[in-house]
Amino acid sequence: MVRPIISPSILAADFANLGCNCKKVVNTGGVEWLHIDVMDGHFVPNISFGSPVISSLRKVFPRDDAKPIVFDCHMMVSEPEQWIADIAKAGGDSYTFHFEATKDPAKVINLIKQHGLKAAMAVKPGTPIEEVYPYADDLDMVLVMTVEPGFGGQKFMPDMMEKVEKLRVKYPNLDVQVDGGLGKDTIEPAAKAGANVIVAGTSVFAAQDPKEVVEILKETVSREIEARASA
Ligand code: DX5
Ligand code: ZN
Repeated sequence: MVRPIISPSILAADFANLGCNCKKVVNTGGVEWLHIDVMDGHFVPNISFGSPVISSLRKVFPRDDAKPIVFDCHMMVSEPEQWIADIAKAGGDSYTFHFEATKDPAKVINLIKQHGLKAAMAVKPGTPIEEVYPYADDLDMVLVMTVEPGFGGQKFMPDMMEKVEKLRVKYPNLDVQVDGGLGKDTIEPAAKAGANVIVAGTSVFAAQDPKEVVEILKETVSREIEARASA
């Protein structure tokens, strides 16, 4: 059975105070992952940061901590194979590439695994979820984008929930992640559709009380996982 995982997106942090901002969010107690949005200005119309920032952040969250934080790297880049070695070296744990960014997803998945990373594939809002099926058995996670990738703070697209539901029904044990516009007001449909890994940028980093937001997100997902299991 899948479990609820909250992955705050560091894109919504104040980059001049990245380590402190992330500590504050992790210290809420309910966060095991950090979502790390790498953008190349080519696959998406925005540039964020790359592996030097990830290795600095890894020093703030060492692997030998009692509860090590998983670095969930969302690679919005045109040539996903090009950055796998760098991200592994910088301290990434999981590498999410976009289906739309490669002609050979199987090759990318293999390369990710060869570098000791978990492999995940993301689909943009316009990509049918059926494209993922041939690769699903080899993936640790599928990311269903609930906004067009490139920017934080956009509006959640509820019509993406059909894709989440299809994935959840077909692959009951797969981690299904949603990303974009998730927060207290939008978690309900995402959790009901079967998403168990929740990316939340603005709603967590800009919150007065991030602990409260993380708890609500996690509890909602937990409740829906249990409801599905007993249905
Ligand atoms: C968008 C990124 C998201 C983004 C989410 O391209 O992939 O991870 O940071 O931010 P919010 O939660 O603010 O929509
Ligand atoms: Zn993301």
